[in-house]
Amino acid sequence: MSVSQPHSNRNAPTFPLNDTPAREAIPGRAQVVVLDTGGQYCHLIARKVRELGVFSEVKPSETPAAELAHAKAIIISGGPCSVYDQGSPSVDPAIFDLPASVLGICYGLQLAVQLLGGRVEKVARGEFGKASFQPMGESPLFHGIPPAPAQVWMSHRDTVTALPEGFERIGSTGTCSFAAIASEARGVYGVQFHPEVVHTHRGKEILENFLFRIAGCQRDWDPSRVAGVLEDEIRAAVGDRNVFFFISGGVDSTVAFTLCLRALGADRVRGIYVDTGMMRKGETAFVKEIFAQIGGDASIHIELAEPWFLSQLEGVVDPEEKRRRIGQEFLEVQNRVLETEHFLDGNWILGQGTIYPDTIESGGAAKADLIKTHHNRVEGVQRLIAEGRIVEPLHNLYKDEVREVGRQLGIPAPLLDRHPFPGPGLAIRCLCSDEVAVPQPIAGGWLLPLHSVGVQGDSRSYKPVLLMSTPASLAAGEWEDAYERATDYINASTAFNRVVIQVGDSQPPVEELRVRKATITRERLDRLRELDAIVRRVSLESGFEERVWQFPVILVPLGTAEKPDSVVLRPIHSVDGMTAQSVGMPMEVLRPLSKALFEVPGIAAVLYDLTHKPPGTIEWE
Ligand code: XMP
Repeated sequence: MSVSQPHSNRNAPTFPLNDTPAREAIPGRAQVVVLDTGGQYCHLIARKVRELGVFSEVKPSETPAAELAHAKAIIISGGPCSVYDQGSPSVDPAIFDLPASVLGICYGLQLAVQLLGGRVEKVARGEFGKASFQPMGESPLFHGIPPAPAQVWMSHRDTVTALPEGFERIGSTGTCSFAAIASEARGVYGVQFHPEVVHTHRGKEILENFLFRIAGCQRDWDPSRVAGVLEDEIRAAVGDRNVFFFISGGVDSTVAFTLCLRALGADRVRGIYVDTGMMRKGETAFVKEIFAQIGGDASIHIELAEPWFLSQLEGVVDPEEKRRRIGQEFLEVQNRVLETEHFLDGNWILGQGTIYPDTIESGGAAKADLIKTHHNRVEGVQRLIAEGRIVEPLHNLYKDEVREVGRQLGIPAPLLDRHPFPGPGLAIRCLCSDEVAVPQPIAGGWLLPLHSVGVQGDSRSYKPVLLMSTPASLAAGEWEDAYERATDYINASTAFNRVVIQVGDSQPPVEELRVRKATITRERLDRLRELDAIVRRVSLESGFEERVWQFPVILVPLGTAEKPDSVVLRPIHSVDGMTAQSVGMPMEVLRPLSKALFEVPGIAAVLYDLTHKPPGTIEWE
């Protein structure tokens, strides 16, 4: 149904912008090359380097050393494989003889050690998420960093157990004795942790030391002028065609849409908003209002499509199947809109706000393992890509870079500072189950037979959840103990990928809870919408909303005969969605919140997700 019609003869908004290009570096001659061994964070490394003012590019790990002769610094990324796996990614060993300095990160470190004559082994105890790193000696890599333990982010089970000749250990953690190594003479360095992720404190300084102190790079890139570069790229990619967008009201599609408006003029850009029925409470009204502001006299077309999406999801439990069907339905709706709005007759292509993590987690980057299918990468869209009928101006950027571009474009802060919300909407926060099962007692608490998606060692996992007994210290609002225990349990077991605890004053005995068969229904979505709206209201009113990057609220089919579902709170801190730290809520906010949630009809328990990413993903799916 068409709620409003797109206007013609619209003028592009004129936001203030410095149009000087950001790029001074010569393409193909980047000072820094990141060799991609398939890691989740590979492009994040390249982007962190650009943020430090040096243009960097990503190349396949097997790139011959001769093609890297111009580089001052080579960084070998992390990856999902084991260096001993058949056919696992490698690098040309001659890169270690180039004048460039080399930094191996995670798998990159292990690869360097193996190729240079050391040893890497799988050990019983992995390290996922938070770890405490102790630098040693006087390495230039840690220049300016106090010799005290610092928080780092890890994701590994393989570990270096013997160093190659000429190397020394320059740091360790309780679990990993060779957490940082170096051969200053060869200019080769390695860290087992991920300096590129925001949860590694001092990670930025470590990269800075490597680039400027060790490799001698010079600044040649200005991140504050990216919007102008993106507009040039849009004009080049689109040519004389027009662009239509399926906008979501989120930061990504809004920024991409606005960039296209600026680059092409409002006559050549249209926005369509599909109400899938998987939206949060009040969302459609909000979107209408915001786009009226952004587009000036431009308006958007709103398509109400809830019944189609609901019928597609009938009986579906598997997360990937949910995503596939939603993606497919999006294309169906899209086709309908294309015909009624005559986008197919003319010279139109599809614009999307896809950002880099969407691509990498769908297995789109060279070797990254498939963690899940994002709906803007399903088959039909792949076909449009193959036909060259798509423009994705943000495809190389991370969320915080997108916000920065949004600021450069003058998009209002209330929209830019909104928490990100996934395209498939509440469908991936409404957990389904095809079994009836009871929680099983295990070490640390109860194993809940609810499966959720996770990411461990850069690979997808789909496993049950540990319901940990709530530590007494939590009553006083002390979260540290709960988080430490949760991390310990996860590192020691492969039986689950998440840890939750019960919160609130009316916790039901676990023996009374059971998992039931459940799929996505209007009733469950309405229940989730209500819970989500309560959480958002309390979070905003208490100021907690500003302390977290995202606050998913998940409905799980764990309950009793009268109260069939439970709700999971998952507030996390992140910068780019690639890694995340679960955040503890102040008790004075959590207590009344859980009381309000218990009052929603059908809710048996209120759970709190203590899992960081990795090993859990942010969404449960
Ligand atoms: P995960 O669950 O993988 O989520 O840790 C990382 C970030 O991505 C968001 N997300 C999506 N965003 N389309 C989107 O636009 C999607 O299909 C999608 N799935 C997850 C998620 O909310 C988190 O911010």
